[in-house]
Amino acid sequence: MIKTPILAAVAMAFAGSAFADEMEYMPPVTHAATLEECSACHMAYPAGFLPAQSWRVMMTTLEDHFGENAGLDEETRAEIEAYLVANAGRDLSGDGAVPQRISELPWFRHEHEEEVSKRQFEKAKSWANCNACHERAEQGIFEDD
Ligand code: HEC
Ligand code: HEC
Repeated sequence: MIKTPILAAVAMAFAGSAFADEMEYMPPVTHAATLEECSACHMAYPAGFLPAQSWRVMMTTLEDHFGENAGLDEETRAEIEAYLVANAGRDLSGDGAVPQRISELPWFRHEHEEEVSKRQFEKAKSWANCNACHERAEQGIFEDD
């Protein structure tokens, strides 16, 4: 069958939401150093939520990490980077972008825009605070609960 450009465009539009459905479960961080060092200020985000190039950039800019100094000794830093890159998600952008926030990805906005009440957001204070709303986020569970 010849795929017309229109069909291809429809397939593209759905790809984002299909990907989010796949993410009802996202394997949680199991690597000891990542768990310890990357959950000091927020939960340790599953590696699969960002593509490899995002983790590489983040792991070389930890001294200026969202306004905080999250710097590590070189050995630990390299070990965590290797773990995150090895378990990274697919690059959905298709343009080599290096997003640093899960909460700014198109699928994330799509999934959250109309689902979250003002009250729920005020309680969580930040989109980065996944586990304020997803009680089982640390077990990798993000489905409706
Ligand atoms: C010293 C505190 C601190 C440490 C340690 C830290 N972070 Fe962060 N991180 C922050 C802050 C602050 C933000 C922004 C939070 C917000 O917007 O509410 C953030 C945000 C993030 C985000 C983006 C969240 C979003 O909005 O989608 C990712 C991804 C992230 N951190 C990964 C890591 C990784 C990986 C490590 C371990 C190498 C780490 N962080 C260690 C303070 C820290
Ligand atoms: C203010 C509350 C809130 C915050 C903060 C939040 N979420 Fe959500 N999230 C929701 C709601 C509500 C839904 C839609 C209902 C559902 O599927 O649980 C949702 C849906 C999702 C889905 C789709 C699940 C599915 O069933 O397809 C994923 C994946 C997800 N969130 C991940 C995250 C991640 C990762 C973070 C942190 C970076 C985060 N969320 C932060 C409230 C929140």
